[in-house]
Amino acid sequence: MISPFDPENAPDPAAAVLRAEDLHCDFLTAEGIVYAVNGINLSIGRAEIHGLVGESGCGKSISARAIMGLLDRKRSRVKGGVLFDGKNLLGLSERELREIRGKRISMVFQDPLNSLSPLETVGKQIAEAISNHYDLPKEELGRRTAELLERVGLHPGAAKQYPFELSGGMQQRVMIAQGISCEPELLIADEPTTALDVTIQAQVLDLLKNLREELSLSVLLITHNFAVVAETCDRVSVMYAGHIVETAAAGEFIRNAAHPYSKALIDCIPRGRGKGAAREPLPVIRGFPARQYERPGGCPFAPRCPRAENACGGLPPLRDMGGGHLVLCRRPIGSGPPSGGALPARGEA
Ligand SMILES: Nc1ncnc2c1ncn2[C@@H]1O[C@H](COP(=O)(O)OP(=O)(O)OP(=O)(O)O)[C@@H](O)[C@H]1O
Ligand code: SF4
Ligand SMILES: [Mg+2]
Repeated sequence: MISPFDPENAPDPAAAVLRAEDLHCDFLTAEGIVYAVNGINLSIGRAEIHGLVGESGCGKSISARAIMGLLDRKRSRVKGGVLFDGKNLLGLSERELREIRGKRISMVFQDPLNSLSPLETVGKQIAEAISNHYDLPKEELGRRTAELLERVGLHPGAAKQYPFELSGGMQQRVMIAQGISCEPELLIADEPTTALDVTIQAQVLDLLKNLREELSLSVLLITHNFAVVAETCDRVSVMYAGHIVETAAAGEFIRNAAHPYSKALIDCIPRGRGKGAAREPLPVIRGFPARQYERPGGCPFAPRCPRAENACGGLPPLRDMGGGHLVLCRRPIGSGPPSGGALPARGEA
């Protein structure tokens, strides 16, 4: 099997800021084991915006939380490697992780109001994010907070306001200011724009792109939206039922998606309604994803795949399509016999 971390295959592994290697995450529940993440490999380059897409429940947020060490250790079982600065984060103690979390890797969530305290001013909350890691005098904290607010496109006077006094887009900017307050190498943004309207969404994504340029920040951007992938991401990984089924440069992915699942999703994007059409949420394709109570075995997409055939038994090897384009499929599109065609959207068949 080809590893994306083999120097022959990864785009630039030496430049990876973080690598998840064969990362698994199971939950132990009263109903049984939920196999949420099933051996993903993910390499996030320096100053790269890496999109992670896939339908609801496929394991995007759990992967991010496992990388950050944010899962309850009693209820979940995380295995594999999360390599960052020469260390496997999965082997660190909670105290060691706290040194990294918020300082060198930080996370921004979809709903700022769930993450910001309603009782404290925005300025105080940003200053606290800095004080968690640096012992700075009060004036210096104030100066740094004002700088951060300006950097994310807010007036420094916003420091005195409470979150509820700000719009959704402004709250998300505050979350990003907190996220970059200690100048992390990696920001994980879990659907940071899903709750925002299209114009504000575009502004927040432009902000992430600017921060990537200005701070050489790497971003793992979790999204449902292919327009975000096309317009914002350098590379993209597609998740399906706890597996990463395809990784490619964003442009190559949109033009030449090779996994039947990715291709079906791209083919379902409505055409001919202008740029806004691609801003619609991830389309729903026919059939249902694999049940995550079942121990993963063969190809996770086989029950829904129009290209499935007898040779598809067993978990497919990761296949290199060239130029760092990796696909978890025995019969990727563009590699052999003609495609069985895209899946019809639900309700179209
Ligand atoms: N605490 C938990 N206990 C058991 N199962 C869980 C738990 N948290 C998540 N899961 C399961 O893990 C799987 C992956 O969930 P995850 O939140 O990562 O999905 P997602 O891809 O982020 O979806 P969405 O796009 O809706 O945010 C789901 O099947 C979910 O039901
Ligand atoms: S391995 Fe076979 S069943 Fe699985 S996605 Fe590829 S073609 Fe479809
Ligand atoms: Mg999620």
